[in-house]
Amino acid sequence: MPQITFIQPDGRRQVLEAADAPTVMHLAIRHDVAGLPAECGGQLACATCMVDVPPGWRDRLPPASPDEQDMIEDTIGSVPEGRRLCCQVAVTPALDGLEVAVPETQG
Ligand code: FES
Repeated sequence: MPQITFIQPDGRRQVLEAADAPTVMHLAIRHDVAGLPAECGGQLACATCMVDVPPGWRDRLPPASPDEQDMIEDTIGSVPEGRRLCCQVAVTPALDGLEVAVPETQG
């Protein structure tokens, strides 16, 4: 069962067992991770599920689709390195140990 860590802007960490969560966003919602309202429920329509993936993990995740990149850019004006919509990141065993940072704001 993959373990995924969410890091808040103030450094607080939540280490969560992904169990049967289909995406990183679902895992965050189930555990009330702060700063990730995920208002559209994973429909790629809100960009309120942004996280920052550290350099060592960026190439280990499936790349962001053009639609995901467009949604981020439309929301904050650019696509910072490692910025992802966590509703678009499926949980797989390969994500065990992933750490993502929750940004100060969601747009
Ligand atoms: S939850 Fe809305 S885009 Fe991810």
